[in-house]
Amino acid sequence: MTPIDGRAMARALSQRTAAEVADLIARGTPPGLAVVLVGENPASEVYVARKMAESARVGITSFEHRLPVETSEAVLLALIDMLNADPRVHGILVQLPLPEQIDAGRVLDAIAPGKDVDGFHPVNVGRLSTGTGGLVPCTPLGCMMLLDSVIDDYRGLAAVVIGKSNIVGKPVAMLLLERECTVTVTHIATRGLPEIVCTADIVVAAAGAPRLVRGDWVKPGAVVIDVGITRQTDTDGRTKLVGDAAFDEMAHARAVTPVPGGVGPMTIACLLANTVRAAGR
Ligand code: GUN
Repeated sequence: MTPIDGRAMARALSQRTAAEVADLIARGTPPGLAVVLVGENPASEVYVARKMAESARVGITSFEHRLPVETSEAVLLALIDMLNADPRVHGILVQLPLPEQIDAGRVLDAIAPGKDVDGFHPVNVGRLSTGTGGLVPCTPLGCMMLLDSVIDDYRGLAAVVIGKSNIVGKPVAMLLLERECTVTVTHIATRGLPEIVCTADIVVAAAGAPRLVRGDWVKPGAVVIDVGITRQTDTDGRTKLVGDAAFDEMAHARAVTPVPGGVGPMTIACLLANTVRAAGR
């Protein structure tokens, strides 16, 4: 089994992005990314800090907007309107989850589709499902780049996606379908999940269920993309990140993404790539 090195692939992608940023700056369009965080969710704080730091590293100007947890939907929508109209801002990212008084759907609908670097706006979702361009969500895009490093011809391969989220499961299924895989979308309530996963040439595990996918669920020679990241504390009080696949049981697989160091680093690299794409259009 070959571990797929997401850190190395993310570095290479960010290097290409940095070159494109330099080119855009030279042409008078410095790419800008607005990052909006409402409230103080600790995981979101970490993600947002990382997104800002990586943006700076490739030369993207970032605009951080931190709003208090009690922010109303109207105030957030007014900020989105302002960012939509701001020519320095090419990408807008509203970190999820949002506090309960705010309807996330309404907020995502308000982002200009051309600036929707998360690819969550219904126009971009529709474009993805009809194969007509648009901005593609970052984690699914990263999953496909990782798969591309080990698979040349997807045509007719059986792909099983575990997880039906709008952020990963559904869009990654669309991307695999576009490559002419035979796609089965499953989730945590699917009956007979191990038997279905056993049929897969490609497994994308995105259920957020630590070590759900065991070695005997995976066909010899299959490729496993592990999107799960669960923080667990072991008996010595050390925290570690655990994926949705039991990595140590995957010796018979062809290739597997480790956690950490697989899908995670690609997500931010793809966000930066999407920002440059939005700026270049
Ligand atoms: N929360 C968890 N994942 C994501 C993501 O990809 N984008 C945003 N905006 N929020 C998230």
